Amino acid sequence: MWAVVSKVHDVLIVGAGCAGMRAAIEAHDSGADVGVISKLHPTRSHSGAAEGGINASLGNTAEDSADLHAFDTVKGSDYLGDQDAIEEFAEEAPGDIIQLEHWGAVFTRNDEGKLAQRPFGAAGSPRTIFAADITGHVLIHVLYEQLLQRDPQVYEEFFAWRLAIEDGRVKGVICWDLLNGGLQLIEGKTVVIATGGCGRLYRATTNAYACTGDGMAMALREGLPLKDMEFMQFHPTTMYPSGILITEGCRGEGGFLINKDGERFMMKYAPNALELASRDVVSRSEQTEIDEGRGINGSIYLDLRHLGEERIVTRLPGSRELAMTYAGVDPIYDPIPVRPGAHYHMGGVETDKWGVTEIEGLYAAGKAACVSVHGANRLGGNSLMETIVFGRRAGKAAAEQARGMSSSPVSESMLADTERELAGLLGRSDGERPWQIRDDLGASMLENFGVFRREDQMLAQLDKIAELRERYRRVVVEDKGDVFNTDLTQALELGYLLDLAACMVQAGVARKESRGAHSRPTDFPTRDDENFMRHSITHWNGDGPALSYKEVRMTKWEPQERKY
Ligand code: FUM
Repeated sequence: MWAVVSKVHDVLIVGAGCAGMRAAIEAHDSGADVGVISKLHPTRSHSGAAEGGINASLGNTAEDSADLHAFDTVKGSDYLGDQDAIEEFAEEAPGDIIQLEHWGAVFTRNDEGKLAQRPFGAAGSPRTIFAADITGHVLIHVLYEQLLQRDPQVYEEFFAWRLAIEDGRVKGVICWDLLNGGLQLIEGKTVVIATGGCGRLYRATTNAYACTGDGMAMALREGLPLKDMEFMQFHPTTMYPSGILITEGCRGEGGFLINKDGERFMMKYAPNALELASRDVVSRSEQTEIDEGRGINGSIYLDLRHLGEERIVTRLPGSRELAMTYAGVDPIYDPIPVRPGAHYHMGGVETDKWGVTEIEGLYAAGKAACVSVHGANRLGGNSLMETIVFGRRAGKAAAEQARGMSSSPVSESMLADTERELAGLLGRSDGERPWQIRDDLGASMLENFGVFRREDQMLAQLDKIAELRERYRRVVVEDKGDVFNTDLTQALELGYLLDLAACMVQAGVARKESRGAHSRPTDFPTRDDENFMRHSITHWNGDGPALSYKEVRMTKWEPQERKY
């Protein structure tokens, strides 16, 4: 059943979204032999679903600076972001945009011929560069072209299952070959985790089916700390009921949010920023309208009609098409039903500013990592930028470290243990199917750990997760075959999701304050900087998560009350 890929790569990247591909390009350009593992074809990675844009302080529409970008990010993070990392992020972002443009990213331009920049939530200047409303799609194709030019070994449709860590260092990744079946060990002197987020923990999410937190969970199981796990961002405009993203760019172009009475309700909640307050604020406002009976079947409306046909067709063609296809609504004539949906998890594998983790040779970047530039709430448009800045940095650092390293073989016993575990799972013939457990997890997380959090619900959710984990011990994979055994991989993904859910809710119960995306309106409605301006750190301790805290790194911005 085993195959060991004979070549040992200098740098092995796990994941081929924007962060993974950017890391691979940089590692190659730094002289490394690079391998890329991806459970999907790279251009099908979830980064391609990013719509509204990517932030950098080019100042093409109004005055802007890296300092203002950094301040907006710190404030948006509700002062939980690490300010040194945020400053470097904001300083490097413009250069990365120019490079992407030179590589062929067809960004929308303004009347002067410069890269156009649209307003996004909680940004002090229009800072979001975009390609209509398909920015992620454009970037993923540009990066793929650049990757192909460099011709690294891409292990496409390989499901990464285990990090091979021995003697205190990473040695490679154990994968299931989706096309042919069988376990494969792919070795790397250094490894970069860039596997994306875990939005599939929730039933209502913008995230693709592939977003199951694989890299985070693999790292957790190997003893690495995860940071700020309680912070799941709910995007204010996900289509009802499918959860498909309708970009913040719609509000950036001037879209309104209205309730069932046609009231533009953001006037009450954020009288200055209105629909362009930060996402946590807008999502809470919507949820309040829905909970207090001013919604429409569990949704509110995003109204674009006043923008007119030409603006909708030229600036928001993708959103219009999605609304027509999946909600049966043409936004030129009718408002789109939307609601808050799980979108972006601010937590992830703890890294420094170069993607370095606690295990020698192991790096992380993008959504799977927590540097942390987003703190308790990410600004729209900062995620794509993070994949580029920190993907590049991790690729460079991993290549430099690999240069001085020799390879070291993975032990036979590790391979035998992994094989035995897989045989145990495939050999089981009675038990529960994974989908029922997955559905129960998604529904209960939405119910008990959503936009608003209450102690009794969070405690109930911890019990629920314990029950689901117990049921998971008897999970049965009916497909025993080798070719595209998605029954097997979905069962493995479910195991990842259950571990991560336990970490998130435990950290949520312990954070007795409201900050960013973590809102406890009934018992701890305000931010408590004295006790909780700290990152939560979660380790896996035998059979469950164990929590500790770490200071936030500050440079020049003292915490203030956020007003929008
Ligand atoms: O609304 C959006 O287009 C999403 C952007 C983001 O999450 O950065």
